[in-house]
Amino acid sequence: MSFKIVEQCTPRLNRTEFAVPGSNPKFIEKAASSKADVVFLDLEDAVAPDDKVQARKNVIAALNDLDWSGKTISVRINGLDTHFMYRDVVDIIEQAPGKADLFMIPKVGTAADVYAVDMLVTQCEMAMKLTKRIGFELIIETALGMANVNEIAPASKRNESLHFGVADYAASTKARTTKIGGPNPAYHVLTDADDKGGREVHWGDMWHYAIARMVVAARANGLRPIDGPFGDFSDPEGYKAQASRASVLGCEGKWAIHPSQIDIANELFSPSEKEVSQAKRILEAMEQAAKEGKGAVSLDGRLIDIASIKQAQNLVQKAEQVSGHK
Ligand code: GLV
Ligand code: MG
Repeated sequence: MSFKIVEQCTPRLNRTEFAVPGSNPKFIEKAASSKADVVFLDLEDAVAPDDKVQARKNVIAALNDLDWSGKTISVRINGLDTHFMYRDVVDIIEQAPGKADLFMIPKVGTAADVYAVDMLVTQCEMAMKLTKRIGFELIIETALGMANVNEIAPASKRNESLHFGVADYAASTKARTTKIGGPNPAYHVLTDADDKGGREVHWGDMWHYAIARMVVAARANGLRPIDGPFGDFSDPEGYKAQASRASVLGCEGKWAIHPSQIDIANELFSPSEKEVSQAKRILEAMEQAAKEGKGAVSLDGRLIDIASIKQAQNLVQKAEQVSGHK
């Protein structure tokens, strides 16, 4: 272990991150009774410029009037390059004090972006004498943000999670796709010809590097890595496959941009009974090994050692978090 202890952010269940446009009060009301772990009310890209002011009013009303219990409630504020952002922060804290758990900051490019919002939020909270501190969710969705992700992740004590915003990231890096998330058949490997001259096409995941890079920056700073949107809500299998890849890499959850995606993410990011019972067997076997003074033993013909304890504990802790939430 390094001498540096990584401080972990406020723990929250974050299997789903449900995106709801602030301009649509009906959708907001439905979101409050959904099964999403985290709901973010969007003031940014799902809201047209002419609707921004009304959307802010809707969000303030929803924070004050709806029952969000059992959920984490977040507001995606506008970007730092707009004139909407400061008023999003000021109005939400002043007119719905203590109601939002998190602010989601889009298109974070540098650590100074986070610092600037932190300063504004801190001033508003101080002026309102609030003791509950708003946490930050940061979307990594530009080439600049990804290039600076290691400085962005530790930029504020408020930081809780990094999110991969695949749509803006594709635009920013000029990736050749117009879809929101998912694979691209052009990103493939062609195998060498076999004896009969046959060749196979193996699809790759064009987002692998970006997600893996964000996961490492998040985990190295005690934050939750969360995978962003999958635009084709008529393709549940495609959504599930993308969520599964993200979870294998270490993400704790994924955005849902449609209610039909919520159950899929909740299930996929919860450890299965089989995984949990195997993890418990590993912990028992390692406890016995420790009594016998051994650091490594075999279980079902496979080596397990002290690192296996941590892997198994992660799964058991996640299962406890999920069952505590029900
Ligand atoms: C999310 O904001 C995205 O751009 O994918
Ligand atoms: Mg975006």
